[in-house]
Amino acid sequence: MNNLDGKVALVSGSGRGIGQAIALKLASHGARIVINDLDREPAEETAELIRQMGGEAAVCHGNVSAPDFAERYIKTAMDHFKGIDIIVNNAGYTWDDVVQKMSDEQWYAILDCHMTAPFRILRAAYPIIKAQALADAEAQREVFRKVVNISSVSALNGNAGQMNYSGAKAGVIGMTRALAREWGRFKVNVNAVAFGFIETRMTRADAHAGATVSIDGRDIRVGINPEVAKSFAQRNPLGRPGTTDEAAGAVYLLCTPESNYITGQIIAVAGSPQ
Ligand SMILES: NC(=O)c1ccc[n+]([C@@H]2O[C@H](COP(=O)([O-])OP(=O)(O)OC[C@H]3O[C@@H](n4cnc5c(N)ncnc54)[C@H](O)[C@@H]3O)[C@@H](O)[C@H]2O)c1
Repeated sequence: MNNLDGKVALVSGSGRGIGQAIALKLASHGARIVINDLDREPAEETAELIRQMGGEAAVCHGNVSAPDFAERYIKTAMDHFKGIDIIVNNAGYTWDDVVQKMSDEQWYAILDCHMTAPFRILRAAYPIIKAQALADAEAQREVFRKVVNISSVSALNGNAGQMNYSGAKAGVIGMTRALAREWGRFKVNVNAVAFGFIETRMTRADAHAGATVSIDGRDIRVGINPEVAKSFAQRNPLGRPGTTDEAAGAVYLLCTPESNYITGQIIAVAGSPQ
């Protein structure tokens, strides 16, 4: 018996990196997963990995920032699995520049992806969450459901060149606390995880070598200067960046029954106090 047996978990941006590790971790504990990614191939790969583990997965492709995305995403969960238990808002990327160089396009793209998309997803999930909670109450069962929003230590400490991203990830913290108060009556735990430096394609590449990723047709610079990465490791109490599996472990904790009385909290997963 796994502690997430039969639960339905929606994990955005789960084609790669932390999102993929979260999807695999939740699936390994029995959850059925709705995979999403901007890129079709990695999303299908994650779904295939889950099926190979003997799990169940459905895929909802596309950009979480698209105005019609949230409805499609919730519909995918309902069509395939007929319920929603866990929503992990993970999809995201950085598009950095110092304030004087940051365009409106850059500003809004990051706010749309990290704040507006989770807002729309949670709003679209509301009727399902409410109906499930009413059915549970009628049957006199107490069933906890989970929202885990992904934030960043950039929101807690600020990061030069990331006014858009630090602002959006700080917004995620406010959204988390507000929704924890709204959805407590539905027995939904709403928490956030603020990651520090986790090794993924977002951070692994050498920014100075001109590494880019294609996000919705735009080539966006990614990566960290290797000198900065080295000095980070030297200053970090645990002496290294986190792995995607460690990042997923923290999200998993907030999806388990053991966290049923934890809500509106921001857990830093950074290998250091924040
Ligand atoms: N890696 C870190 O050090 C770190 C630190 C703090 C927070 N985070 C956050 O963790 C989350 C995952 O980042 P990661 O490091 O795994 O990055 P990643 O690039 O390895 O993976 C992110 C995945 O999300 C997808 N994605 C990006 N934008 C999307 C969109 N608009 N719609 C749908 N899918 C989209 C990408 O295609 C990719 O597969 C992000 O929200 C990021 O901001 C990461």
